[in-house]
Amino acid sequence: MTNLIDGRAIAEQIHAETAHRITALKARGVQAGLAFVRVGEDPASRVYVGMKEKTSERLGIKSTTTVLPDATTQAELLALITQLNADPSCHGILVQAPLPAHIDQAVIFAAVSPAKDVDGFHPVNVGKLMLGDTTGFVPCTPAGVHELLIRSGVKIAGAEVVVLGRGNIVGKPMAAILCQKAKHADATVTLVHSRTRDVAAHCRRADIIVAAMGVAHFVKADMVRPGAVVMDVGVNRIPDPTAKNGSRLVGDVDFAAVQPIAGLITPNPGGVGPMTIAMLMRNTVRAAEVASR
Ligand code: GUN
Repeated sequence: MTNLIDGRAIAEQIHAETAHRITALKARGVQAGLAFVRVGEDPASRVYVGMKEKTSERLGIKSTTTVLPDATTQAELLALITQLNADPSCHGILVQAPLPAHIDQAVIFAAVSPAKDVDGFHPVNVGKLMLGDTTGFVPCTPAGVHELLIRSGVKIAGAEVVVLGRGNIVGKPMAAILCQKAKHADATVTLVHSRTRDVAAHCRRADIIVAAMGVAHFVKADMVRPGAVVMDVGVNRIPDPTAKNGSRLVGDVDFAAVQPIAGLITPNPGGVGPMTIAMLMRNTVRAAEVASR
């Protein structure tokens, strides 16, 4: 029997649920709308926004994309967000990160209306997550990891979870989700990072490892307790002379070495990645449902 968690298949299940809700909204005369904003020509951001646009279209969400030049000022970007906040046809707003260095990302995320913050990055939504208030939006990637654990039947309550990486997009919200006093949570969470003294020792006692620190192949077989569940969030480009473009994408887990000993493991690609988009679509339909109540 395989120990792979098929993120693509689980994302498709969620897409089917979301599409159903979008159809129900349409029957009430509501067209769910999602606005993408991209600043500059970061190649990865182009690819990510392109994938999100395609999925929106497939599920029946009307998306619009605004691409602004690299030289856009913070004030100009804020003006666009103000406009989208006031636009009733737009239920969700996603400003793709990273932004150019002269723009303060935190200021931009805080300018998006919390009701349209389908990324879950606004301080109000971050606060609600910490407080266990489920009326907020949860960031898509950690929400996707959580959903994969739930739908794979992994017991989270009482589990020792080690989250590698303390970023605002994945690590910190992931820890917050899993430590809540709530159904499908109640884990004992250790958040390890670049200043942690002995990362491997923490990993070895984990029932669940979530690798989100952005270091290619960091998690090795000797860091994983046999039978542990390993979730790989990493997206790292490494040189590969055999590849057409001379490089390939790999995760934070040394998959070939870890897969034989893991209880369950996400492939990468095809694990967590598709779930990020599934959660974005689900957040968007929820934003539209709430706005049209
Ligand atoms: N950049 C990397 N991940 C994300 C994400 O989930 N949302 C946005 N807006 N930008 C990102």
